[in-house]
Amino acid sequence: MKLIEGGWPAEATVKSTLPGASYYDAGYFQQEMREIWLKSWLLAGRVEEIAQVGDYITRDLERESIICVRGQDGAIHAYANVCRHRGSRICVEDHGHANNHMLFCPYHSWGYHIDDGALVRTPNIPDDMDGFDRRNYPLQRLKVAVWQGFIWVNFDVEAPSLEEWLGLPETFSPYYRYHLDELAVGAQKTYFVHANWKLIMENALECYHCSTIHPELSRCTPPTLPRHWIHEVVPETKVVKHAGAMDLAAGFERLGITGVPERPLFSHVTGGDAHRVFYFFIFPHVFVALASDYVFFFTLWPHQPDLTVTRGYWLFEPAVLDSPAYGIDDAVAFWDITNQQDWIASERVQKGNESRAYANGGVLIPNDWRVAKFKKYVEDALNGV
Ligand code: FES
Ligand SMILES: [Fe+2]
Repeated sequence: MKLIEGGWPAEATVKSTLPGASYYDAGYFQQEMREIWLKSWLLAGRVEEIAQVGDYITRDLERESIICVRGQDGAIHAYANVCRHRGSRICVEDHGHANNHMLFCPYHSWGYHIDDGALVRTPNIPDDMDGFDRRNYPLQRLKVAVWQGFIWVNFDVEAPSLEEWLGLPETFSPYYRYHLDELAVGAQKTYFVHANWKLIMENALECYHCSTIHPELSRCTPPTLPRHWIHEVVPETKVVKHAGAMDLAAGFERLGITGVPERPLFSHVTGGDAHRVFYFFIFPHVFVALASDYVFFFTLWPHQPDLTVTRGYWLFEPAVLDSPAYGIDDAVAFWDITNQQDWIASERVQKGNESRAYANGGVLIPNDWRVAKFKKYVEDALNGV
């Protein structure tokens, strides 16, 4: 682990930002959908959200919608949330349960089997109807993978495997000791942010703003303390980016508003790391904070160039969630407050980026070096690199 104190790496130089239009232009947004979102592995949720056969979640992305459902076979399957009859959305809720192992369209009640998306029920249509064969109208399948308790989907049937995409296991070598696959969702919050998805990611990538807008975060993890950068020794990929670890301030025993312990430390997170939080990103839409007794992450789901749904999750050891002796409130409040400060800042930046005064964009200073890396990721993806 290399410690960079009071400075930045060589790539930290002055650069231009993306142009203002890239944050509101519909054509640019469409290009991002084609070249980034519809080709990337996307984190749809946690396996424990759909623990029982028939449980499903939906995730909306721009004009698309995804169903992830727990099959009768016990596996997780993902489908486009579009009926093959006349195109209705099938599942209209954020989450729910498919009865009789079928996903029923709410329009004319066609039913699709949860295991393979096969069309198995078409009310009032005789089996021998001329020119119509149910076998020709299954739900469109998406690639799906499960890793560390996370459900991943990909619209692109040609996409590389998730392992290859994420560079596993090397890229995650510092994080496996957090046993993410054994944790469970203790709290979940959804936010509608009136900002372009890139602004929210860019904001998450730098802590230059922390002392200005995050009093709670800055008290607990002072941004002026040296950060433990690890990206030079732990492999990164095109999409996996490490943001190192921050130390907790003296007097804080946990990452929270008060820093007072509400539950035991993770048993494998010891030594100095018991008083640190590690951060990593998976482009285009995942932010993860690994504290010493819980994990917070969010995912971004662009709906429009200037509207992004963000989903925050707090993960804990199941024993913590099962016991009245332990609490989660300080951790939940900490990220809820911090997130909302970030959303407000991002919405303000959105407004400025839409101004004609910002048509040529702004400037990235050395402190913004991780934002510059993200800019390169976006530009490369749009250029097919
Ligand atoms: S549109 Fe779905 S059953 Fe008719
Ligand atoms: Fe922030």
